[in-house]
Amino acid sequence: MSSRTPLIAGNWKMNKTIAEAEEFISGLLPHVFAADGVDIGICPPVTALQAMVDSARGSAVRVYAQNMHQADSGAFTGEVSAAMLTELEIQGVVLGHSERRELFGETDKALALKVPKALEAGLEPILCVGEAEEERERGDTERKLRHQIQEGLAKVADDRLADVVIAYEPIWAIGTGLTATPEQAQEACAFVRALVAQRSDDAAQRLRVLYGGSMKPDNAAELLALPDVDGGLVGGASLDPASFAAIVEAAGA
Ligand code: PGA
Repeated sequence: MSSRTPLIAGNWKMNKTIAEAEEFISGLLPHVFAADGVDIGICPPVTALQAMVDSARGSAVRVYAQNMHQADSGAFTGEVSAAMLTELEIQGVVLGHSERRELFGETDKALALKVPKALEAGLEPILCVGEAEEERERGDTERKLRHQIQEGLAKVADDRLADVVIAYEPIWAIGTGLTATPEQAQEACAFVRALVAQRSDDAAQRLRVLYGGSMKPDNAAELLALPDVDGGLVGGASLDPASFAAIVEAAGA
């Protein structure tokens, strides 16, 4: 059993108005009131961040943003800075989700600046990495992960590495209902940890590696029991309070 506290984070993507988010949180809180030994996060769209911080205050639920710009301020229409997020008293920020990489041109170069910027600001970064289906088929999974992790963590000091959360999310499993097998998830998450160990053994032992990609109440327990899987980044199944709570419960078991 590792000493790492599991983290279950619900990535809502572009879902839920403030009213819908309020309905979700009132449905979730009674389920997770007594949750112990597991960290719980929700990642609402930016419009609902403040409302969720207010509604989750005093509970075990922490709030994360879904993206952040690396600059302090400036002419970046539509973007949000670290200082704007810390002002909301949120816990952290998801960085480099595959949808941002594929649909919005997020680059490893920008992520190399975003991850240390988030840490400096006191935000816990959840750095997402993962291979596409063709990359897995070509046998390029490890090469892709090595590249994404080396770049994403390049400017993070060794003594801050353990404060980063890494989410391994095979792109072919995201929103498809196709979950990685436990063997595939364990192998990739152990590889991610081994890459961090090349920088610092101590950090690699403390850093949390999440699995993401069609995690659901009926497959969560098996995935969360894997030795190198320290939680989950949950998309679709995080939109409903009961199914999200069931995954949280699977992590605490
Ligand atoms: P999914 O999404 O659980 O709907 O596959 C996971 C994610 O994109 O973080």
